[in-house]
Amino acid sequence: MVKTKGLEGVVATTSSVSSIVDDVLTYRGYSIDDLAEYTDFEEVIYLLWYGKLPSLKQLAAFRNELNENVSLPSELIAQLKSFPIKNIHPMAVLRTCVSALALYDKEADDTDDQANLRKAIRLQAKIPAIIAAYARICEGKEPIIPEVPLSFSANFLYMLKGSIPDQTSEAAFNKALVLHADHELNASTFTSRVCVATLSDMYSGITAAIGALKGPLHGGANERVMKMLSEIDGIDFVEPYLQRAFANKEKIMGFGHRVYKNGDPRAKHLREMSRLLTKVTGEGKWYNMSIKIEEIIRREKGLLPNVDFYSASVYHCLGIKHNLFTPIFAISRTSGWIAHILEQYENNRLIRPRAEYIGLKHQAYVPLAER
Ligand code: ACO
Repeated sequence: MVKTKGLEGVVATTSSVSSIVDDVLTYRGYSIDDLAEYTDFEEVIYLLWYGKLPSLKQLAAFRNELNENVSLPSELIAQLKSFPIKNIHPMAVLRTCVSALALYDKEADDTDDQANLRKAIRLQAKIPAIIAAYARICEGKEPIIPEVPLSFSANFLYMLKGSIPDQTSEAAFNKALVLHADHELNASTFTSRVCVATLSDMYSGITAAIGALKGPLHGGANERVMKMLSEIDGIDFVEPYLQRAFANKEKIMGFGHRVYKNGDPRAKHLREMSRLLTKVTGEGKWYNMSIKIEEIIRREKGLLPNVDFYSASVYHCLGIKHNLFTPIFAISRTSGWIAHILEQYENNRLIRPRAEYIGLKHQAYVPLAER
């Protein structure tokens, strides 16, 4: 048996969804550089699910379907309003609500291909609505859905803030969604595949994936990057902050990667977006501090930024609350999770690795009363 810590280097499945070869990331064979430059997120969702880019007509119909499925069951909104607000992370709310959504979907347990595609649309449309609704409820506001059809990215920003975003914000948010959409067999995607490989349903697969994304070593890192930037709060404090962190053997959030050793190809796009947005919003200090942090971590540890590092200042400049950064990652990654879930169903085999037993052996049973 092959033994490897954290399944490093193990090829656990074949996939046609996305690939990372020589530090180049592609979705269905298209470079993410091109997709980030030219596509709307809806096109990328379509590409991931159907394996090809949509025609104009297909895209219009797909957008329509997404827009028609945004609204949430009133029972779920009531439930959102009943959650205690203090100290609850929106990722925990999202995990709970996606699981609850299944209770209002008659097709929840139907794993027929067409039923799965209908659920895929519902999940992709409703996940942003859940996040926006909860964020508004936390601010004492009512959830809203747009009355006019908007793009996927504008739709979310509208549901969150109550006004149609300007073009710069919409384009930046769209690009961030495109860049986070899929990433081969990352931890949350693997989780979703393990879950549905038991022939469990799509809601279970997405709920499990949200749980995995929540952790700080995965999607939870972006929020912690902003926490670090806020704690440092000035370019002169970067070096002492990092030296202290190194001395305490702390991990610096937003750096390092299991697969990329020469840099995450998504980071350069987010770095540039961070540069532009911090300039437009007059918040250049976040970008300047980020650049300095990048220089020092590269010099001292030889580590490079991953997707989570510059996305933090990008989302901050879009006026998004810091605890929504990871839920936003989930909005985008839902598209990839679903593509992988569909692929898993298509050619399924139970995923069940082995563990090497290193515990005690030959224990003599002691009756309860004698322990
Ligand atoms: N800061 C400081 N040291 C680090 C970091 C970091 N961010 N990342 C790795 N290292 C060090 C480790 O301490 C370890 O050193 P050691 O060998 O002296 O003990 C060595 O590099 C290898 O690190 P591992 O954690 O074993 O590498 P692994 O491949 O398991 O982890 C991971 C990858 C989890 C991303 C790691 O780099 C990390 O924890 N980064 C910070 C969290 C983060 O940014 N997560 C988001 C990743 S991208 C995503 O999931 C969307």
